[in-house]
Amino acid sequence: MTLIGSDIAHAATVLKSGGTVGIPTETVYGLAGNGLKKSAITRIFEIKNRPFFDPLILHIGNQDQVRDLVLEIPAPLQDLIDAFWPGPLTVLLPKSDRVPDLVTSGLPRVAIRMPNQPLTLSLLQQLDFPLAAPSANPFGYVSPTRAHHVADQLGDQVDYILDGGPCEIGVESTIVGMEENQVVVYRKGGLPIEEIEKIVGIVRVNSTSSSQPDAPGMLMQHYAPRTPVKIAKDWPGPWEPRVAFLGWQTYHAAIPLANQLLLSPGGSLPEAAYHLFDYLRQMDQWNLDVILTEWLPDEGLGRAINDKLKRATATTA
Ligand code: TXA
Ligand code: MG
Repeated sequence: MTLIGSDIAHAATVLKSGGTVGIPTETVYGLAGNGLKKSAITRIFEIKNRPFFDPLILHIGNQDQVRDLVLEIPAPLQDLIDAFWPGPLTVLLPKSDRVPDLVTSGLPRVAIRMPNQPLTLSLLQQLDFPLAAPSANPFGYVSPTRAHHVADQLGDQVDYILDGGPCEIGVESTIVGMEENQVVVYRKGGLPIEEIEKIVGIVRVNSTSSSQPDAPGMLMQHYAPRTPVKIAKDWPGPWEPRVAFLGWQTYHAAIPLANQLLLSPGGSLPEAAYHLFDYLRQMDQWNLDVILTEWLPDEGLGRAINDKLKRATATTA
């Protein structure tokens, strides 16, 4: 049985000996291992059942660690790092030889972020290597935002789970990089695009589906529970009793109340993000025929939430 606890020293010992640890971050829980050690990286791919073409993010505990891992940092990305680290921002930078090709799936750039979660920051600061950490869910499933989500799905395979409580933000980090001197957003996430644009001006958003995705967060069917997810206004019925509704602010009149959850009755997008993956997981356990949902306002964190819902409703990869 996997141990769950808040023992940072134990987590560090496991990681130093090449093991894997579920780690809390402010976005979602990660499945972490030594990001410079091939056996630990391989184990992460195996546990997640993740294809090797889908690269991993390296997590660091202080900015000095970046220098060894990359060849250069373009000025706009440095400005974003200065503004938002530690925080829900992942930056794609040209990788140095220190980063194993396994981490980047052979791509020329490496994804790096400094998470803003006290236990994990302290853990990272005790290690002399970065932690490779994808979200701690089986490939394609909803990301975990509570320690028990990790235990429920990967519990017998990870060596330890560091419990930092519920993730404050609840959706993954926003991924950015540069193309032809412009900042590009590759995954809409916990740092709203509006915040990024305040620092670097207008950005390009390139998070659409592709058969050769630069970031498989871009894969169309992703973040999906096992129960099919559909948009309520397109649903022809029947309405009960085997239909669930994941709403924004108000309940659906045609569906039994016991089958409904609201992301934020008060209309707060951060609150909705905080609940999103936990509610999708809860509803999946109800074993109904379909989970109906609705779009949120497409602004701030609503853009990331809508992107997750769009992918959850997609039926093919
Ligand atoms: O919030 C987060 O970013 C969480 C926490 C644990 O930090 N991590 C996370 O990792 O969401 P993961 O592996 O589930 O998603 C990382 C995304 C993937 O879509 C991957 O394809 C993309 O980042 N990615 C990683 N390295 C990349 C690279 N070198 N080039 C392009 N995309 C990359
Ligand atoms: Mg993931």
